[in-house]
Amino acid sequence: MDKEKTSMLALCVEAGKMNVKHVPRPEAKDGQLLIKVAATALNRADLLQKRGLYPAPPGESEILGLEASGVISGVGPGVKGNWTLGSKVMALLGGGGYAEYVAVPEELVMEVPSHLSLYEAAALPETWLTAHQLLHFIAKVRPNETVLIHAGASGVGTAAVQLVRLSHAIPVVTTGSPEKIRFAEQIGAALGINYKEEDISEKVLQFTKGKGADVILDCIGGNYWEKNISSLAVDGRWVLYGTMGGKTSDGDLLGKLLRKRGHLLCSLLRSRSLQYKAELVQSFTQQVLPHFKSTDSPLRPVIDSMFSMEDAEEAHQHMEANKNIGKIIIKIGKP
Ligand SMILES: NC(=O)c1ccc[n+]([C@@H]2O[C@H](COP(=O)([O-])OP(=O)(O)OC[C@H]3O[C@@H](n4cnc5c(N)ncnc54)[C@H](OP(=O)(O)O)[C@@H]3O)[C@@H](O)[C@H]2O)c1
Repeated sequence: MDKEKTSMLALCVEAGKMNVKHVPRPEAKDGQLLIKVAATALNRADLLQKRGLYPAPPGESEILGLEASGVISGVGPGVKGNWTLGSKVMALLGGGGYAEYVAVPEELVMEVPSHLSLYEAAALPETWLTAHQLLHFIAKVRPNETVLIHAGASGVGTAAVQLVRLSHAIPVVTTGSPEKIRFAEQIGAALGINYKEEDISEKVLQFTKGKGADVILDCIGGNYWEKNISSLAVDGRWVLYGTMGGKTSDGDLLGKLLRKRGHLLCSLLRSRSLQYKAELVQSFTQQVLPHFKSTDSPLRPVIDSMFSMEDAEEAHQHMEANKNIGKIIIKIGKP
């Protein structure tokens, strides 16, 4: 067969660096759709996976990339949905997004809301599904609750701020610069705390009139445990979903958590079953995607910057240096 039709370009990791290479093109297997990728977006997990610290789960592509947008270019056997070749889609992936084609179970594919570009769509799946999951499947946030969101200008953070507002709850963020605080406030944060200059728990307790945050979305872990427990309301839910600030903690963590009757909840998305992810995608499609469908929508994908495949290393360095506000896109094919 024509080599053009069986191979594709992908970003492959060799000795900790990414290079554009020809690799075999995946095929849509049972229940899968093949997507011709227009764009993918970076996630912190990509940086770890590139360094060999976060391997792809068994059965997933070794190529980096947890999300992609593009057009349907193949429909595998046994696919149940009414998908049309050429239609614009975005998908949550277990891996493989940094490539011209990716095969994905149909349950993890979503139609792109009509007024969004494929570049904007690439900014949605992983971080918005993560934020939706943390708020509604894990923390079960309720109207008028205060939600403290660490890394409030990150990909997940900017999605979480908007989703907290959509749930009629109150987002409070921490970030490391005035510029990031300003941005978080523009998209809905009621209060921004600069963790480099201000005392997080003091500000949270002041804002909540001594009650504390009902929910904390925490991707920092380690060195934040004491600030978290001091900021948490009695009976509050502290959701740990990342450990950017370290994996260990010493001190009276359990005693202090017990005194607050705090709930410590932990969550990872990538290692979940297909059925769980399918339910999450369905819930997001029904409850959140309709709010992207008009030009005056209260929700918007937040794009920090866009890079070509050849400049993907530069894109990773940008994220590694904590420079991004929202998502970093890698353009793969023509949108
Ligand atoms: N559990 C899951 O299912 C799941 C899924 C997706 C992502 N995640 C996690 O969610 C987190 C955010 O991911 P993302 O892709 O949205 O990140 P991102 O856009 O790269 O943003 C991360 C931001 O976190 C802040 N930060 C980094 N190290 C920090 C530290 N030690 N202390 C305080 N703040 C720090 C920096 O902003 P400042 O300038 O404000 O410091 C940085 O820009 C990551 O930990 C990622 O692993 C988890």
